[in-house]
Amino acid sequence: MRLCITGTPGTGKTTVAKILSEKLRLPIYNLSDIVKEKKLYKSFDEGRDAFIVDIEKLREFFKDKHRFIAEGLVAHYIPCDVLVVLRAKPDVIRERLKERNYTTEKVEENVEAERIAYCATEAFENFSGKVFIHIDTSNRTPEKIVNVIIEGVKRGGIVEEIDWLEG
Ligand SMILES: Nc1ncnc2c1ncn2[C@@H]1O[C@H](COP(=O)(O)OP(=O)(O)OP(=O)(O)O)[C@@H](O)[C@H]1O
Ligand SMILES: [Mg+2]
Repeated sequence: MRLCITGTPGTGKTTVAKILSEKLRLPIYNLSDIVKEKKLYKSFDEGRDAFIVDIEKLREFFKDKHRFIAEGLVAHYIPCDVLVVLRAKPDVIRERLKERNYTTEKVEENVEAERIAYCATEAFENFSGKVFIHIDTSNRTPEKIVNVIIEGVKRGGIVEEIDWLEG
């Protein structure tokens, strides 16, 4: 199974992927590590302190791999069987990212990205696999989220309605 986990920073991709990889016995690829290690980037953006990922190189790297969990901000660009999009309330994202040594600007940029469903929309529009899983992690433990994902795989997908702009 090729399973990708995407979502705004702080939604819990790394945390969930670790538990899921043990349960499903699949090797795990953290995309920020892989992009650096294998030089799958075009350039380095000094302002954002981040690599600009070369999507073609990223896809090429996973081309001959058929059993994996790939997790990261660009995971939805990798061809996969199961695409998981983790969502979390903007306030939850803010609290989680404040714990890191991010600038207020970087925290708020990510909070806003989650609020307008930036990553989820991109993921949905790019998806061409079999199983799409879109879930709210806000009031769930990582273990619970993993169970929901496994249930989603069995059911052929789960798309929770999530709209942070409403109400
Ligand atoms: N379901 C959850 N409930 C409570 N806390 C969580 C949950 N999932 C993750 N966390 C906590 O939130 C923080 C962010 O989680 P994590 O690092 O897994 O996010 P991420 O999506 O991988 O972020 P990034 O994109 O920056 O790598 C961590 O401190 C983690 O322990
Ligand atoms: Mg992470």
